[in-house]
Amino acid sequence: MNNIKSILVFLMVFFLIEGNLFAQLIHVQTNQNSLIFQVAKNKKLFQTHYGLKIQNTQGLQNMAVVYNEAYPSFGNGQSDEVALMATHADGTMATDLFYTSHEQKVYGNVQTTVIHLKDEKKAFFVDLYFNAYANENVIEEWTTVFHEENKDVTLSQFASSAIGFKAADYYLSHFFGSHSNEMNFVEEPLTNGVKTIETKRGVRTTEYENPSFMLALNSRAQEDDGEVIAGALAWTGNYRIAFQVDDQARCQMIGGINPFASNYTIKPGEKFETPRMILTYSDEGKNKASINLHRWARKYNLRDGDQPRPIVLNSWEGAYFDFDADRLKSMMDGAAEMGVEIFVLDDGWFGNKYPRNNPRAGLGDWQVNKKKLPKGIDDLVKYAEKKKMKFGIWVEPEMVNPKSELAENHPDWIVKRKNDRAMLLERNQLLLDLSNPEVQNFVFKVVDDILTENPTIAYVKWDANRHVQNFGSEYLNENQQSHFFVDYANGLENVLIRLKEKYPSTIFQACASGGGRIDFSSMRHTHEFWASDNTDPYQRLFIQWGTNHFYPPIAMAAHVTKSPNHQTHRTTSLKFRFDVAMGGRLGMELRPEDLEEEEVTFAKEAIALYKNIRHIVQFGDLYRLLSPYDIDGYAAINYVSSNKEEALLMVYSHEHHRRYERNFTKMKGLNPNAIYRVKEINMVGGKSKINFDDQLVSGEVLMNRGIWVDLRRPLESAVFQLTEIKD
Ligand code: GLA
Repeated sequence: MNNIKSILVFLMVFFLIEGNLFAQLIHVQTNQNSLIFQVAKNKKLFQTHYGLKIQNTQGLQNMAVVYNEAYPSFGNGQSDEVALMATHADGTMATDLFYTSHEQKVYGNVQTTVIHLKDEKKAFFVDLYFNAYANENVIEEWTTVFHEENKDVTLSQFASSAIGFKAADYYLSHFFGSHSNEMNFVEEPLTNGVKTIETKRGVRTTEYENPSFMLALNSRAQEDDGEVIAGALAWTGNYRIAFQVDDQARCQMIGGINPFASNYTIKPGEKFETPRMILTYSDEGKNKASINLHRWARKYNLRDGDQPRPIVLNSWEGAYFDFDADRLKSMMDGAAEMGVEIFVLDDGWFGNKYPRNNPRAGLGDWQVNKKKLPKGIDDLVKYAEKKKMKFGIWVEPEMVNPKSELAENHPDWIVKRKNDRAMLLERNQLLLDLSNPEVQNFVFKVVDDILTENPTIAYVKWDANRHVQNFGSEYLNENQQSHFFVDYANGLENVLIRLKEKYPSTIFQACASGGGRIDFSSMRHTHEFWASDNTDPYQRLFIQWGTNHFYPPIAMAAHVTKSPNHQTHRTTSLKFRFDVAMGGRLGMELRPEDLEEEEVTFAKEAIALYKNIRHIVQFGDLYRLLSPYDIDGYAAINYVSSNKEEALLMVYSHEHHRRYERNFTKMKGLNPNAIYRVKEINMVGGKSKINFDDQLVSGEVLMNRGIWVDLRRPLESAVFQLTEIKD
């Protein structure tokens, strides 16, 4: 009996030790987040935790696995959504990945991890990469896939990231829209099955649905409470982010390039790299997740994220195609008078055989239109500089009008369905085939030539005004047609990188019919994005609200335009328009001559004011206070500088309010112990309308009790500047 007992004890100890030996943990960590993997005894890799930081992982290695495999592949024995599907050289489709090794390093604020996986039977490998940013609590995840099989392997699913969650309920917030109506917010409960956020449009991919999400665990997302995971894919092409809730009430997010029509063949030794999924976890609601992403983007994912953004006047809504040098110069006079820092010449400046006087001709012929601008661009650049402004220019180099010299000379460069199928036009234009390196060189050269000829041009607005639709490439061979979507996005990125390297100090704006390129990949190579062609400040309240869930205000171009608004015909005051546009990178887009004298005075003062507060908007933390989506008809945000000594409060009323109804706003993110001088700014005629001007108030009072702001009419607003008083 004793013998049996000691054998049992021996066996227990053996299994415990063996468990410890083999159930190894891999800890990807930031200051407040942990993403932990567990290598099981059989060398399978599982995620065991993603959420709040676990400092002491003792005991975790022996716990039963909750989630699916860390990078589930088709053929691994499970029947759920997969991250990877491959047809191997011998035609078989099963892939079963096992852990082989991993490496981790820390470079200052960034911990890097790579986990190596290999198929059980084949020379087929997947590496999982993670960059964890300690202070910002952001984790980037991506993968590479490669093989040493004796023939090509075709990938038909290749996600960047697969993360599991376990909660009672899941609420998904995502952001959808259309042209002039981008980034609408919707939150929906996830039920059993698969919900996807995706696009198949190939180009201008963020116009209808943004590749980003916030997933709240257990209850609906709150701004300041509860567990929220924010994610966004850094990719300009087709994407798919799937959320599967299974019969055990587990949720798995699998996100990456959309495999739709995109089978990708890789040769032995060739590497396929997936784009980065950007993730952050917050146990203090959505707002903290947004702040994490904003801070991370400014530091690591946005060009010159620490440089103040100049104030732009763009010619589009003021002149459209209807200008000559004199009109532009008089716009520049007005812009300079108001204190604008860059004048940007939008569409319509090029094309001679087929002049670009409307969207029907000339796109692709990037030579200055001699009739409109006989003295060339140089003359305009010099004029702007004489007025102490910089000059910027619009291009749309990925596209071509059929009525253009470019289309006549290079029909082979145009994306087409072949077999003489009709060319499907969108805005009268077609797409150039950026999977072709020759076309990449052409697109690079369009911008390179302009900047070489006019070296002091300081700003390039890069537009893209159609989707793919005519799927087909003359460059890719018949076995590679399905590479098009992926190669196009990589081709575009390649050109943007070359331009970034050659022109490190030129500002680039990503535009695609408004907000069609708001993603963390475009952002890596540009300074800002055009959030929407819709410049109506009322609708911008919603568009900017959605956009700032992920993307930082410094990168969000917001322009004051004419009233009534050109898109919606709504009439708003100049103050309201400025108060909304000041929430991002302020600009204007109108003919200054159209403003009344007192409006010019107001604009001048507003611009001067913005120059003094832009550091708070552009480098501060943004707090969402009152949502425009709430039924009470108010919206409010505040910005707080990183040392908490300065802040801005912006309050908007967008409905009519009853006589005794007032706006009541509690600020966030201030120093509770500080005393702030609260001054209303950007007032019409220098007078406060709301009887709350120039008071000394403690941070605690402003945050815990809140202030009344006497706004009752629709489309009224008030902005306050807060400065800490130190004795
Ligand atoms: C797109 C852009 C606009 C403007 C026009 C020019 O619609 O979003 O801002 O540049 O093209 O054609």
